[in-house]
Amino acid sequence: MLKMVMLLSQVTFVIMVSLVLWSGGRARRGGRRGHHYSSRSRYRPGSFGVWHPSGQCDVSQQSYEVYDHTFVFIMDGKHTGEELDPVRFLNHHRCAGRLTNESIIEEGKKAVQFFEEGYGLDLSNVTDSDFINGQVPVEGGRLIFKPFIVDLSDNYRLISETDRYSGKLHKDVPVSDAGWMLSVEEPLDVNGTLFTGRLGLPDTFIFYADYIFQAHFRKTIIHYESRYPSVDIGGRFQFFEAALFSDEYGEGYTTSIFEVEPVTRNKQGREVLTFPKRKTN
Ligand SMILES: *[C@@H]1O[C@H](CO)[C@@H](O)[C@H](O)[C@H]1NC(C)=O
Ligand SMILES: *[C@@H]1O[C@H](CO)[C@@H](O)[C@H](O)[C@H]1NC(C)=O
Ligand SMILES: *[C@@H]1O[C@H](CO)[C@@H](O)[C@H](O)[C@H]1NC(C)=O
Repeated sequence: MLKMVMLLSQVTFVIMVSLVLWSGGRARRGGRRGHHYSSRSRYRPGSFGVWHPSGQCDVSQQSYEVYDHTFVFIMDGKHTGEELDPVRFLNHHRCAGRLTNESIIEEGKKAVQFFEEGYGLDLSNVTDSDFINGQVPVEGGRLIFKPFIVDLSDNYRLISETDRYSGKLHKDVPVSDAGWMLSVEEPLDVNGTLFTGRLGLPDTFIFYADYIFQAHFRKTIIHYESRYPSVDIGGRFQFFEAALFSDEYGEGYTTSIFEVEPVTRNKQGREVLTFPKRKTN
């Protein structure tokens, strides 16, 4: 009996202490200036959404169609400007299934056709050997056509991807980025099927290239084409966008911002690739 009474009083003591601590906590929270919430206000509509009894908050009250697939790339290395490494360039194309120089040249000719039609340019001065090793002045030297591969020092890599149902994180999956590009040396006005306007200075580029990466033993090749020239903003940022083409994911779109710190040449890039749901007929 005595034991029973002691146990009961211990239980009562614990309950009382809990009550005191709880109400004290409430008083402190309620008393903070500028904050008008108490534990009860979680059940009331908030000014920017609906509060659910569970404490979760649906701020958008809107549903979005999910992408079939997305990828996020980052860059956080140094910009050396070294983007003509023939050994890595040939290896990139081998990974893309272009096993001979002839098949690389064939792909390069598609790049020329894309630049000519999409941007209304004359690239007739580009010859077969230029597709692997060249740096060709075109349009009377106002543009330079060249093969490129993004330098390893850029630390270009895939960090995450999503499908319709879930997401995956990646740890440092290198992205190989190579193909052909035009860089603007002198401003010129163009009129093409994709772009009509001025290709200005400084640092305006147009790309026709592929991303290749291998995550979890699966190789992914995504072709991309600039639908709009990549342009400099303020001598420090580069805005890039492109249409994406993939056998696996269909057609998509990518945009990115790259920052190159002018003195250190440290490079920061964030890029998101999105593939909408494929239309079914
Ligand atoms: C392909 O082109 C590269 C670079 O110009 C050259 O070094 C290599 O010998 C060529 N390969 C063949 C099989 O012609
Ligand atoms: C092609 O190259 C020649 C010789 O270098 C040059 O005179 C001519 O302007 C170039 N044509 C174009 C369209 O750039
Ligand atoms: C571009 O070319 C198209 C087709 O030739 C023409 O209709 C249009 O006026 C041109 N635009 C400019 C800005 O020159």
